[in-house]
Amino acid sequence: MQDSRRRQRALSRYRLIAPLYDALFEAAGRRLRREAVRRLELRPGQAVLDVGCGTGLSFDLLEQAVGPQGRVIGVELSPDMLARAQQKVAARSWQNVTLVEAAAEEADIPDEVDAVLFHYTHDIMQSEAALRNVLSHLKSGGRVVAAGGKRASRWWQQPANLVVPFFLPFVTTLEGATRPWAKLEELLGSRLAVDERRLGVTYIASGVKP
Ligand SMILES: C[S@@+](CC[C@H](N)C(=O)[O-])C[C@H]1O[C@@H](n2cnc3c(N)ncnc32)[C@H](O)[C@@H]1O
Repeated sequence: MQDSRRRQRALSRYRLIAPLYDALFEAAGRRLRREAVRRLELRPGQAVLDVGCGTGLSFDLLEQAVGPQGRVIGVELSPDMLARAQQKVAARSWQNVTLVEAAAEEADIPDEVDAVLFHYTHDIMQSEAALRNVLSHLKSGGRVVAAGGKRASRWWQQPANLVVPFFLPFVTTLEGATRPWAKLEELLGSRLAVDERRLGVTYIASGVKP
């Protein structure tokens, strides 16, 4: 399926999902989210890009890491998800968060950033155009962390794939589901450190732009 058709489908899905999203994922994904942000190795004053930021569930952790002198930029396709991110920003009076409503493929990202987070953004990880656009705004030496769901590939892990249908509403493709980081690895031109978790149905990958 073409990127543009996938994006249309994601827009319709997330219009329905947005009101339920935080109730489903705020607690459930906390451990992986914490580890993903920790692996970004952010320092106070740095700028970080949260790609497919959704309702902004990572913003608290990113804000703690970069502090008030730093900057958090969220890029998000769905206006319904982004409206909820905007509510969080207003409720916490964060002055250093910029929200960009756009597809990651075309987003006009306002800065060069020190680090990039992809957290549960399988569709974006399968879009070479999105990855190219995002990486073009990452400083050389900047860190990239991607984490999320995947399909287990080893025979002894197959029972764990029973959870895969749970991910289906949140993705428009299962292309690349056994190695969701593969396109990112090709573009970075360096190896990512990849850890698979929960019998191969979640992963966390981290690397550096050369
Ligand atoms: C499963 S949610 C994850 C949200 C957030 N990263 C989190 O950890 O809670 C996936 C998000 O990616 C967004 N998305 C999907 N395709 C996109 C694209 N091409 N560009 C930007 N955002 C996209 C969806 O609208 C959705 O908000």
